[in-house]
This record gives sequence, C-alpha cells and structure tokens, in this order.
Amino acid sequence: MNKELVIVLDFGGQYNQLIARRVRECNVYCEVHPYTLGIDKIKEMNPKGIIFTGGPNSVYAEESPRYQKEIFELGIPILGICYGSQLMAYTLGGTVETAPVSEYGKTEVKVDTSSLLFDNVNEKTICWMSHTDYIAKAPEGFRVSATTPVCPVAAMEMPEKKLYATQFHPEVLHTQEGVKMLSNFVYHVCGCSGDWKMSSFVEDTIRSLREKVGDGKVLCALSGGVDSSVAAVLLSKAIGKQLTCVFVDQGLLRKNEGDEVEAVFGPDGPYDLNFIRVNCQDRFYAKLAGVSEPEAKRKIIGEEFIRVFEEEAKKIGAVDFLVQGTIYPDVIESGLGKSAVIKSHHNVGGLPDCVEFKEIIEPLRLLFKDEVRKAGRELGIPEYLVSRQPFPGPGLGIRIVGEVTAEKVRIVQDADFIYREESAKAGIEGLGQYFAALTNMRSVGVMGDERTYDYAVALRAVNTTDFMTAECSEIPFEVLQKVMNRIINEVKGVNRVMYDLTSKPPGTIEFE
Ligand code: XMP
Repeated sequence: MNKELVIVLDFGGQYNQLIARRVRECNVYCEVHPYTLGIDKIKEMNPKGIIFTGGPNSVYAEESPRYQKEIFELGIPILGICYGSQLMAYTLGGTVETAPVSEYGKTEVKVDTSSLLFDNVNEKTICWMSHTDYIAKAPEGFRVSATTPVCPVAAMEMPEKKLYATQFHPEVLHTQEGVKMLSNFVYHVCGCSGDWKMSSFVEDTIRSLREKVGDGKVLCALSGGVDSSVAAVLLSKAIGKQLTCVFVDQGLLRKNEGDEVEAVFGPDGPYDLNFIRVNCQDRFYAKLAGVSEPEAKRKIIGEEFIRVFEEEAKKIGAVDFLVQGTIYPDVIESGLGKSAVIKSHHNVGGLPDCVEFKEIIEPLRLLFKDEVRKAGRELGIPEYLVSRQPFPGPGLGIRIVGEVTAEKVRIVQDADFIYREESAKAGIEGLGQYFAALTNMRSVGVMGDERTYDYAVALRAVNTTDFMTAECSEIPFEVLQKVMNRIINEVKGVNRVMYDLTSKPPGTIEFE
C-alpha cells in the first residue's frame, strides 16, 4: 500500500509525532514506534530511513533506553535527533558528557552547507536547542557538520554509512530551516520519491473502519468542533446509518454554539446522520460545584460525558463502538510512553476506567490539527467547518479558572462572543486560536462613580500550526481596546480586561 516508509524510533521525547508529521508533510509516509521495536521487525518493515528521537535521559545512565549497535550496520539511513544523536555517538564510541552550560531555546548554529543534510540551508541558521548533555567528541569516522559556541558537535555525519545526527530539533518550527533539513534527509539521504498523500489516509481509514465495524452499531461523540466533525463524517462515509452522533450540550459551549451545531448536523443540515442532542447543563454544573483544581475538573467533565453517552447508548441498544475525535497533541500531552504529563486531555487521560462499550475508535489519533483539516477537505466538509478554530473537549470548563458556575459561564460566553465578533469585523480571524477566558481574580474598579469589585477577563490569541508550540499574536491595539470597552460595558460582572502575551512553551494555550 505505502511503498515508502520512514520509521521514527521513540526514545521518550515530547516532539516525536511532530517529527513524523513533518516527514508526512514531505509526502513520505511515517510511523512512530517505541525504541523497543525489534531489529528483525525493522528489517521486515524495510524502511527507507529511521529517525531516532530526543528523550529526557542521559545515555550514560544505566537504565536509559538504548538500541543494539547492529542497527547502524543495516545500511538504512539514520538521523539521530538530540538524545538520538547522543545515543548514536555513544553507541559508536564517541564521548557524551554533561555540557558546561545547558542550551535552551533559539540558538545560532554554524552549519557546513556541503553536507547533504544542510543542502540549501544558510551557513548561520537559527535552531531550537534543548539539552543538558552534549556530544563532546564524535565517534571515529564521523565528521562534525555543525557547531555552536557551546556545542563542539551540534551535528555530525558519516555519509558513507548514511548516518546523520543533530543536537538541535529540526522538527520544531523554531528551527527556521528545520523542514528543509528533514526534507533533505528523506529525499537526499534516504532517496524517497514522496508517494504519500492525505487522500491515501482518508481512503485507507474509511476502508479499515468498514472492516473493523462490520455490521456493528457505532456511537459518535460529536462536539461540532473540527476533530469530531471530521471523525463523524469519516465514519458516516464508512458505515452510513449504523452511526449515531450524540451531541452533549453540557453548558460549557460557546455562546449559541449548541444551536449552531444542531443546524449543521441535525435533521435540517446537509448530512444524513442519526443525530441526538442531549441538554444536560445543570447536571454538569452540579458535578462541578466547589471544584477548582484543573485536573479534577477535567476528569469530572470527561467522566460525566461518558456517563451521558452510556445512557444514550443504552437507549439505542447494543452499541459496539464509541468514536472519538482525539488527535495527536491530545495523546502526547496526556502522557504517552515516557513523556511528562502536561494535562489530562479530555478523551484520553480524562476517561473513566470502566466504559461500557466494546471498543473506542479514534481514527484521527495520529494526526495533528492541520492534518485533520486537510483530511476534512479531502472528505468535502465545508470550509467554514474545516477551518473553525479548535475548542477543547472540556469547553469553557477550562477557560474559567477555578470553580465553574452558571454565572461565570454566562460571563465568559458573552465576553468571548464580543471578542470573536470584533475580531471578525477587523478581519483577523485567520489566527491559530483566540478566545476569552475568565480569571479567578476579582479587583477593585470604579464605574459611574461607584466602586466595583468584579472579575478580570483575559484575552488570549496565539499563532500556531501544530498546537504543540505557539506564539502570542500581535492583535492591533485598536481592536483590543474596542473589545475591552465592549466587554466592560456589556458584560455584567467584569471590570478589567487583560491580554495574555505568553507563548507555548512555557505557557499552554488554554488556561487549565
Ligand atoms: P494546550 O492548552 O494544551 O492546548 O496548550 C493545545 C490545544 O489543545 C486544545 N485542548 C484540548 N482539546 N480536549 C481537546 O479536545 C482537551 O481536553 C483539550 N485541552 C486543550 C486547546 O484548545 C488547544 O487547541
């Protein structure tokens, strides 16, 4: 089916799927596998190339993940990144040590442009570094192909054996020419021709969903967001009316959103789906009363969701599968393998242990948001739905810092509506993600000669393509001022509006 394959061997870094996705962007099919994947299996899979990822360990620590030396003798091109580069150096006889100073962030790297990996790359180029150890001395036979003032071996290579390594992360967008480097690796070093397209993913997924489901009944958790909409349409193409979509209006949606979702997926919309809307706002507010810890809130919302689905499933009877629109960043940030847990994303860590379905199907589990949008376009889903900005599963529950109440939901809904309305008017809608959040801070103000003691709304806007990293957007000051004015004047309970400048990392996009 896919002739060309690049394998990413996962040593526990945060960016592993990002590497795979960058390779797929080069139209080369790529899969991530744990570093425990056996060498015979690798030979059988016959990849055009292998990429060793980063990871949190030190190669010289006893319990660190390693790979047998023989892998470097297979004649398959290998690119080691960060920990992967150190592992290559260590295994082949180089020296890895704790660096005298850790390098973190955007760093100017001097590269040797005669290297295949750096073909067409500027001699001085900004790369993303994040390391404590470094390669002090490359193994014999390797030549150093990049340096920084701190790193004597920022990249090394042995072209005869097609072995390449970089201390920095080419997969992260902060590495300005990283995409070019990965493309150089897959095309110039691995000799790929680029035979993979999103249409193959869509066709293969529809086919395998059809096989998997057989004549079973499927329930889809539809939120109206991009991910679950794409998942629902994929399933509907695969199995038609065996699918029932359940839309839970849990009282944590954006203003008017419930009705908007119903207009698209309900009986009057363009799709021929079984659609059920469950209104259960009070039930969610009751469960969330008095709870302010973010993970606890996420888990409550996740669990209550599932309970509602189970109840609906019982009404339908004999439901075999539950579909969810989980995408890759949800998986990785909920802690996959040895990566650190950042948040329990709804649909993953937030799930209760006992779910009364035979199986959960997550057809988008390996895709990033922009890949999901591409899949949506392949499926013919209207552009206004496909390009919709993302909205998290736990909804406004994680945009209200602290305890959630019906009153706070009203405040953040109204503030967010104004923000979106003014942004649309100003023509700045193409941003990655922007929304209003309600801080848990109340402060003193003065309005009409009266003292106020009200909440502060935070406006957030970030530019991002992959949602793993994000930069604060530069919204014109007049727009911010207009939004602030309208929120203070029109939304009761707010007397202060702030703009969040934080990027990700170190912040996350949502507040909780
Ligand atoms: P963070 O806040 O983790 O957000 O930087 C990254 C992206 O993920 C969305 N997000 C979620 N999506 N369930 C989801 O389906 C969740 O629990 C969840 N939490 C965050 C967030 O809106 C952003 O696009």
